[in-house]
Amino acid sequence: MTPIPATRLPSSETVPVLGQGTWYMGEQARHAAGEAAALRIGLDLGMTLIDSAEMYGNGGAEEVVADAIAGRRDEVFLVSKVLPENASRKGTVAACERSLKRLGADRIDLYLLHWRGSPPLADTLAAFDALIRDGKIRHWGVSNFDTDDMEELFALPGGDQCACNQVLYNLTRRGIEFDLMPFCRERGIPVMAYSPIEQGRMLNHAALKAVGARHDATPAQVALAWLLRQDGVIAIPKAASEKHIRENRAAIDLLLDADDLAALDKAFPPPKRKRSLEML
Ligand SMILES: NC(=O)c1ccc[n+]([C@@H]2O[C@H](COP(=O)([O-])OP(=O)(O)OC[C@H]3O[C@@H](n4cnc5c(N)ncnc54)[C@H](OP(=O)(O)O)[C@@H]3O)[C@@H](O)[C@H]2O)c1
Repeated sequence: MTPIPATRLPSSETVPVLGQGTWYMGEQARHAAGEAAALRIGLDLGMTLIDSAEMYGNGGAEEVVADAIAGRRDEVFLVSKVLPENASRKGTVAACERSLKRLGADRIDLYLLHWRGSPPLADTLAAFDALIRDGKIRHWGVSNFDTDDMEELFALPGGDQCACNQVLYNLTRRGIEFDLMPFCRERGIPVMAYSPIEQGRMLNHAALKAVGARHDATPAQVALAWLLRQDGVIAIPKAASEKHIRENRAAIDLLLDADDLAALDKAFPPPKRKRSLEML
């Protein structure tokens, strides 16, 4: 099995470019054990970056993650997120402590502001700093930040310590390539692509099927391989079935050639001008 390549955070720490999402996990108790088992299969296959959030399943997803990583915390690069309504100076710290409890962990590796809300960014940053000082988080970052948000962040003291921007990015959502991606790349900040297969909605597209047919690969593998070929991009597909997990893992072995990329560009044209960041 080809190892999963890694990318660097600004701190120089490396993380795998293919991880696992957890949105919609932990919503129904009867599915929780199966969801944790699915995440464990992903861990066994090297997909050791797990993305969660206090929002998912109203904390239930973090509990599923706790089950999945029990006894193997050190293998995992754990990502979670604070909701904007909690992102005040005190609220962020309290939300993180609640998340740690649900995760059964003493630290979160990367803690993200889920999207911008009303609390001033400087207050959220102050809380992130305090959490780092106390060893409760190791890195902080943002999610759903467009270029103007990133510029505002970087103008704040310590704003340049941002380790990641997690945004909606897949073949059907290429707007970030115009300006946000270059902004992040210039500063060595990885882009974490969420909904990398558009929650399944893109998988019937003829171009994905045609490229897949050339390589004996599925449309999901083509969509993931397209993301994973790019420097500084981390993809976090969510999969609760073993078949999907194994298929996604195998996307690492799919190398798209120039003809494939041209066909995909034709079907999903890159942006020619600024588009506002989309979010789900
Ligand atoms: N920061 C944010 O605002 C934000 C927003 C959205 C998502 N996220 C994060 O990003 C993660 C991924 O995004 P997402 O969950 O929205 O969507 P996604 O990963 O694009 O798609 C997940 C859906 O696709 C299915 N699937 C997975 N692998 C497949 C395959 N190989 N073939 C066919 N279907 C497959 C899954 O089914 P099964 O589960 O049945 O396997 C699930 O229904 C989330 O779980 C979350 O951690 C963050």
